[in-house]
Amino acid sequence: MTDRHDLPAGFRWGASTAAYQVEGAVDADGRGRSIWDTFCERPGAVKNGESGRVACDHYHRWGEDVELMRGLGLDGYRFSIAWTRVQPTGRGPANAAGLDFYDRLVDGLLAAGITPLPTLFHWDLPQALEDEGGWMQRETAFRFAEYAGVVADRLGDRVPAWITLNEPFVHMVYGYALGIHAPGRTLMLDALPAAHHQLLGHGLAAAELRGRGLDVLIANNLTPVRAASDAPADRAAAEAYDALHNRLFTDPLLLGRYPDLSAYGVGPDLHGAVRDGDLALISGPNLAGLGVNYYNPTRIAAPTDPGLPFAEAPIDGVPRTHFGWPVVPAGLYELLLTLRERYGDTLPPITVTENGCSTDGALDDTFRTDYLAGHLDALARATAHGVDVRGYYTWSLLDNFEWAEGYSQRFGLVHVDFDTQQRTPRASYTWYRDLIAAHRAKSAPR
Ligand code: BGC
Repeated sequence: MTDRHDLPAGFRWGASTAAYQVEGAVDADGRGRSIWDTFCERPGAVKNGESGRVACDHYHRWGEDVELMRGLGLDGYRFSIAWTRVQPTGRGPANAAGLDFYDRLVDGLLAAGITPLPTLFHWDLPQALEDEGGWMQRETAFRFAEYAGVVADRLGDRVPAWITLNEPFVHMVYGYALGIHAPGRTLMLDALPAAHHQLLGHGLAAAELRGRGLDVLIANNLTPVRAASDAPADRAAAEAYDALHNRLFTDPLLLGRYPDLSAYGVGPDLHGAVRDGDLALISGPNLAGLGVNYYNPTRIAAPTDPGLPFAEAPIDGVPRTHFGWPVVPAGLYELLLTLRERYGDTLPPITVTENGCSTDGALDDTFRTDYLAGHLDALARATAHGVDVRGYYTWSLLDNFEWAEGYSQRFGLVHVDFDTQQRTPRASYTWYRDLIAAHRAKSAPR
């Protein structure tokens, strides 16, 4: 049976992080305030009142972190750029000192033989733009495109491929609908324009990047949706959930239209946000790749609360991560096959841009190794069944600031002692390093 050792030659191995989760140094070199700086100050918003002020201090310790990546033998490193280091208020000329940091990082990665894969937006919107309405405002999409151009002008000579947005679904739902993440708004279904404006921002930024000869990807959090039973009400609920979580993002990108959201009482213009020509900007020309962030499947039943057309049902009988998330590697196979069936030839090559788990923090993390092995086996099966998956970036290289959970969820191949900033590779680091080396040895021409 196909497993992770059978991944195709040229398959790319990576690890991911994000700016606010690792960099710290929030006041360094003219960085402006982001919505996460503000949100972390809100009493009760983040576990134990923690914040990303220091995080892994990657801003100063990036050299050591690149050495850890080199030790793994990574092909690529996915990180994000803090918009507020580049444009402290989200508009206008570049803050050269902020861009210098990414310039140093990119050169350091290249010197270590690692391809930089930057994400332009991983949830840390400039507070100045949030004060004007954030992603609920159409104007933010245009500001994002301007920022993309500024960054690409500086780094585009060395960075071939770019991810515009990270998980616009999670940012919309957690940030604007439920208020669990920054900016902490609780708009429920009225948050839908935040999805459209992010996608419009993607389309406009993609044009800036492509105009400079660069490849464009977008990373979404996707989940295979399973109905709790074959009963028509459960199946209809599962379809409604699938439309909101998955299709709301992949349909406009790949098919140039929004899915049917009538179960939510919402029309195809998403509360009037969609204007003529927007979908053409969002969908074309083709993406160089689709980034898939996969953590777990979702089981959905008919609604119990009249406010929403679905209810989440538990997934029993499987292991759970420290976060409590169900571990279902087969869900990744299911997701990849569904994408191929759903989008056929319009589906660009896929890169798994995040996958991983939180553990109790121990250095001997067999739980993580098993998690990664299971998911890579599922990924290999999907490639054997014809899905074009080009690479895998595990979440995460380092333990880091896990948003509303503070430092309580540890996702790293490398343990970080947040008092001393000491990095210690876990057992899973060695395991991943050996897997990469074995794959490379097997793929090398004889
Ligand atoms: C996000 C990461 C986050 C990870 C684990 C993803 O939703 O992109 O920033 O740390 O999941 O929760």
